[in-house]
Amino acid sequence: MSYGNPIKKEKDIAYAWKVGIEYFSVDSEMEVEKVARNAPGSKVYARIATSSSDSDWPLSGKFGTDIDHVIAILNWANRHGLKPYGVSFHVGSQSYNKYKWQQAILEASVVFNKLSKNGIDLKMLNLGGGIPVQHTKPIPTVEEIGEVVDDSIQEYLWKHKNLMVVTEPGRSMVGDAGILVSKVILKSRKGSKKWVYLDVGVFHGLMETIENFQYEIQIEGKSYDKTDVFTLAGPTCDSVDTIYEDHILPADIDYNDIVYFINAGAYTVEYAAHFNGIEPPKVYTMEELKEILYK
Ligand SMILES: Cc1ncc(COP(=O)(O)O)c(C=O)c1O
Repeated sequence: MSYGNPIKKEKDIAYAWKVGIEYFSVDSEMEVEKVARNAPGSKVYARIATSSSDSDWPLSGKFGTDIDHVIAILNWANRHGLKPYGVSFHVGSQSYNKYKWQQAILEASVVFNKLSKNGIDLKMLNLGGGIPVQHTKPIPTVEEIGEVVDDSIQEYLWKHKNLMVVTEPGRSMVGDAGILVSKVILKSRKGSKKWVYLDVGVFHGLMETIENFQYEIQIEGKSYDKTDVFTLAGPTCDSVDTIYEDHILPADIDYNDIVYFINAGAYTVEYAAHFNGIEPPKVYTMEELKEILYK
């Protein structure tokens, strides 16, 4: 296990170290110092900020830093008695472009090679997450991504023997394990716009739609043969709680219809709050659902 967040509380670093976590992520000098104080002698890896374009949920705006800074941070770690151990990146969650991993590994190899010249031999490459789940656009398979990763390691990191390659899949492990089920609670018209309001929204599981993350939507008993354009919104008082503007839905979508968001097993209930006194979605296993529906 590794502690993958480069922004940690000191007491959490100390706890992780105490229970046996050996690897810590950093992307700043101060974080190195915090790790050195609370997990002396541990192995640290620094995160490069790679391009998140071609992903639905970019992660490079806040985490990671440029290659020269990553090199400086790992040197700083060395001076603070830590073991500079590797490089990590994240190509952005739900990435559609398998070559983003190639570009990131090429960038990581610059860090490996420059530090090696200074006598620091890094041992770990952390590929982060980013492997996509099927929604509305074609996706590369995990095998196709794996092939690009393998080829890139051969091409750019062949000098670094016994490399430990780590991956941290999140979305791809659970995305297709859940369907978010909701209900239409209002249909209305304002000016020229037609609105459909659901009992879930940005604050109740659909947070990622604020970056226009596109779920496949199915409506119980309705088809897309005849469609119309609607603004789809959640139930709360906040205008951020708008799921999709100008979205194509079955023309006959109506009050009380059941609306399914397909493959919504990742980053939905974890994001959900009690905002406006509305309960977050409940999670049911298949077995529990059978009990409820057929008993
Ligand atoms: C450091 C790190 N690794 C892995 C993941 C998982 O990413 P994904 O869900 O795209 O597989 C995340 C997600 O935020 C992350 O921050």
